Amino acid sequence: MTSATRIAVATNADGPAVPRRVFGTFVEHMGRCVYDGIRESAHPSADANGFRADVLELVRELGATVVRYPGGNFVSGYRWEDGVGPRDQRPVRLDAAWHSTETNQVGLHEFADWAQAAGLELMEAVNLGTRGVAEAADLLEYTNHPGGTALSERRRQNGRDEPFDIRLWCLGNEMDGPWQIGHKTADEYGRLAAESARLMRFIDPDIELVAAGSSNHEMPTFGEWERTVLRHTAELVDHISVHAYYEETPGDPASFLASGVALGRYLDDVAAIIDEVRAETGSTREIGISVDEWNVWNQTRWNEVDKPRVFTGDWPVAPRLIEDDYTVTDAVVVGSLLITLLRHADRVSMANLAQLVNVIAPIRTEPGGPAWRQTTFFPFQLTAAAAHGTVVVPTVESASIETAKHGVVAAVDAVATVNGDEIVVFAAHRDLDASTEVVIDLDREIAAADALVVTVPAGGDRHTVNSAQAQPVAPASLAAVVDGTRVRVTLPPLSWARITLRAAR
Ligand code: AHR
Repeated sequence: MTSATRIAVATNADGPAVPRRVFGTFVEHMGRCVYDGIRESAHPSADANGFRADVLELVRELGATVVRYPGGNFVSGYRWEDGVGPRDQRPVRLDAAWHSTETNQVGLHEFADWAQAAGLELMEAVNLGTRGVAEAADLLEYTNHPGGTALSERRRQNGRDEPFDIRLWCLGNEMDGPWQIGHKTADEYGRLAAESARLMRFIDPDIELVAAGSSNHEMPTFGEWERTVLRHTAELVDHISVHAYYEETPGDPASFLASGVALGRYLDDVAAIIDEVRAETGSTREIGISVDEWNVWNQTRWNEVDKPRVFTGDWPVAPRLIEDDYTVTDAVVVGSLLITLLRHADRVSMANLAQLVNVIAPIRTEPGGPAWRQTTFFPFQLTAAAAHGTVVVPTVESASIETAKHGVVAAVDAVATVNGDEIVVFAAHRDLDASTEVVIDLDREIAAADALVVTVPAGGDRHTVNSAQAQPVAPASLAAVVDGTRVRVTLPPLSWARITLRAAR
């Protein structure tokens, strides 16, 4: 079965710039993301600081731009001072967020150096769970003040003469969630975020601050949380966060494949609330949406199987937590969530794929063994590498698909970026059975085209995964036929593709 799709791109349209920070990622002290993930001192590839060179290489290849650190739920019980100074004097602590033991062998200095080596801008989160205004300000003074004060001199004694100069700061994490250490009402959090922001800005007026929005669109407090928090902080912050994880309900892959539609509605709702509060308060300050945790995550398995097991056991160091094996279906969903983020580039200022290594991650590792790319690595990498210039939302005519959760959705979802003569179309094909013959229609003569596709490999099915032993899922090239102002490609069922066009001069 084959359907027909037309994607028309107006290359001169006045779109928003590609927010390059939308290709952020996230490293939390959780499970094996840091320990036995980016760092494993006994690994053959480890450097002098214990960081794995093979993992660093894959992180560079992924092409992310920003890294959020050190949590997540972890940050709401974290004392940043534990992670600075001589390693052999650092305290070992219970991490109540993940029922683990934190050795503090990686802290701010080691991580900042690693992030720099990986080419990632550091986005630091402060603890507004067990801590507050003073500790947030102390951390900022430690990282960003040049010297001459107790905290800045302490940084220098700890080996970092120049400031870390961290620009991006998250004011806590998921404070709306009853699972969060130090969970608060919207009013309590809004006041605390505003007071923290005020003092942090006194210390460094040039930082960018992210207020914590809802943990997901289904939170009972969604909407009122954003409204209340923004009423307190609209004149003090630059972004408000959105966290969004999607999973397949057994027997309903169609809804899962349309997760991008759900994310789009969530973003539209948050954008509307930002506008509402701006109108109400008369604020003219621009506030972007920071989707600072997003991904596919089998949360049902976590809540019903893994969490009860982990939280009733002992307190291990770096236990295996939520190491989801990603399928081809998951890769197509991740690709289409990226399309949604780019389609909302007028409001989305940044985004972080959560997380980076082992914990719901595009990169997996085995202790003493290999590091490999999960299926979801590829749509992220291919999008981050090619999305430059401005975003253009194309007109898409395609078959439609009935879904139980999101109504009727288009079989093909697409977005384009235009960077001079280079036009890149990113397309997700959500039909599980039919191929589709796609005609990409430009308003300019096309000189050349090439295309890459992520789809079910030969001999596999939609559940195929990459593992330590075999990595059958990888991008494949796709025939792209140029005909004047048109390019034709055939997208297989369940696929995500990047089609790169070079316009004639
Ligand atoms: O990314 C895993 C967890 O998901 C984070 O710690 C938390 O912020 C979210 O609930």
